[in-house]
Amino acid sequence: MAEAIVAKNLFKRYGDFEAVKGISFRVKKGEAFALLGPNGAGKTTTVRMLTTLTSITSGEAYVNGFNVKSERLAVRLSIGLVPDVSNLYDELTVRDNLLFMAKLYGAPAGRVEELIREFELPAERKFGKLSTGFKRRVTIASALIHEPEILFLDEPTNGLDVRSAKAVRGLIRSLNRQGMTVFITTHNMVEAETIPQRIAIMKAGNIVAEGKRNELARLVGKSTIVRLSVEPLTSSLIKALERFKPTFDEGSLVFNVADIDAFLETLMALRKKLNFRVKSLCTELPGIEDVFVELTGGCPCRGCPL
Ligand SMILES: Nc1ncnc2c1ncn2[C@@H]1O[C@H](COP(=O)(O)OP(=O)(O)O)[C@@H](O)[C@H]1O
Ligand SMILES: [Mg+2]
Repeated sequence: MAEAIVAKNLFKRYGDFEAVKGISFRVKKGEAFALLGPNGAGKTTTVRMLTTLTSITSGEAYVNGFNVKSERLAVRLSIGLVPDVSNLYDELTVRDNLLFMAKLYGAPAGRVEELIREFELPAERKFGKLSTGFKRRVTIASALIHEPEILFLDEPTNGLDVRSAKAVRGLIRSLNRQGMTVFITTHNMVEAETIPQRIAIMKAGNIVAEGKRNELARLVGKSTIVRLSVEPLTSSLIKALERFKPTFDEGSLVFNVADIDAFLETLMALRKKLNFRVKSLCTELPGIEDVFVELTGGCPCRGCPL
């Protein structure tokens, strides 16, 4: 089974209010996936449905192949959750918090020491006395106590200073590189640009776009800036690339291309024919921020406190 999460037409109603309005998506095993959207979009509600913390009004969801409605315990044992508000105890030490979680999940006590070492946690300090950044680190460690296959993180860097946020992002990326499936929610563009391989943009209970960063960029008709430096730069090469409308800048050719794949294919074919050497090739995609503003009309939060 190559799919870690399958959501089919998920709805959540609170009384008359529809917080989630029939969303569908799939997350592959080992993938890092983000739900990006402004406050109130329905991100937390979606995470809570997928992690069995709140009921699904209608639709279906599978996590690690388990039916979220009918196999709740199996779902819970196969996932780790870092909620938006930490679920650990202020008055317990870091070690005691982890030991408590280990008991809850039937994990061996040795696992606690392993996590303390791996995450360089201050084991003897009371959780409540830690900085917000360290609290988040401990919360992430505690979510991994039973070695889950998927880690859900709801706005993992919310409220953190720039440095701690960067450290937490690095931690999430490294977990993903080690094979962990990661599902994060965020309203922060930096997060959306640095962690996930795939993004779903959520607005008012709907997914309004989904894809890899470059696919989303294409969706809103943004193009890629390509800066190319070759040797030798001949008139026959410039002529051959004419349809991409090159401009010149400090000895480089600069293009604004709508279809980067077609451009690169043409370039590679020409390289064989005209026998030049590529000295450097840089591409610059439009930021997710542009895509987000275009699709949601919302606040382009670059870490803004909204
Ligand atoms: N328990 C609840 N009862 C009623 N409305 C709720 C409840 N939880 C969330 N909502 C509403 O659902 C919408 C989506 O909330 P939420 O999922 O927390 O959004 P996000 O995490 O994207 O900020 C919001 O309008 C929120 O007020
Ligand atoms: Mg939320």
